[in-house]
Amino acid sequence: LLFDLDGVIVNTAEYHFLAWKEIAGRLGIPFTRGDNERLKGLSRMRSLEVLLDIGEKKLDRGEEERYCEEKNRIYLSYIRKMEKDAILPGVRNFLHEAKREGYLLALGSASKNAGLILEKLGLTNSFDAVIDGNKVSRTKPDPEVFVKGASALGMEPEKCIVFEDAEAGIRAAHAGGMKAVGIGKRENLPEADMILDSFRGIVPETIESMLI
Ligand code: BG6
Ligand code: MG
Repeated sequence: LLFDLDGVIVNTAEYHFLAWKEIAGRLGIPFTRGDNERLKGLSRMRSLEVLLDIGEKKLDRGEEERYCEEKNRIYLSYIRKMEKDAILPGVRNFLHEAKREGYLLALGSASKNAGLILEKLGLTNSFDAVIDGNKVSRTKPDPEVFVKGASALGMEPEKCIVFEDAEAGIRAAHAGGMKAVGIGKRENLPEADMILDSFRGIVPETIESMLI
């Protein structure tokens, strides 16, 4: 089982949105929650590029890097205030059940802040492998993060199930030859093999039986 982090394990997708919204405001770019769907799952720099596309603006490389640093500073100010209860409903139990039933678990996140967030939530030891933004060079929808996750678990891609809240992540899973469970709304994740609105009351067997 391969899990995205932001918006799947923890509600940090909201903090990414709020931080980009603030950056968009400074750049004079109107930015809605609908626009934000296009940023989900993308690396920090790729997200800025999409935001600049939306606003039809161009910056030089140095300015891009400064805006990325500033976005991360704002994002981390939310992370500092985050409590353990920011973990999404049902996730702790799902991870616990999955471990008990002998599934192998990996994190597959674009975020360079993943280690810090896992630590804050007390989840560092919940995963058999952690592949994050520091370990990949290609952003979702490239499958690199999940291919590396599967390989770290010693599993064939077709035996893997990916949990994702981003369309870019669903595409990455499929490009890697894996099944993809969308967390969120069907309208935002049209290509997911199945949709859950949350992990509340869900155990891994439910997922496997629905995907077969
Ligand atoms: C992904 C988020 O998990 O991580 C994106 O969905 C974010 O919104 C990306 O841009 C990179 O995160 P970070 O923490 O390295 O800026
Ligand atoms: Mg996500």
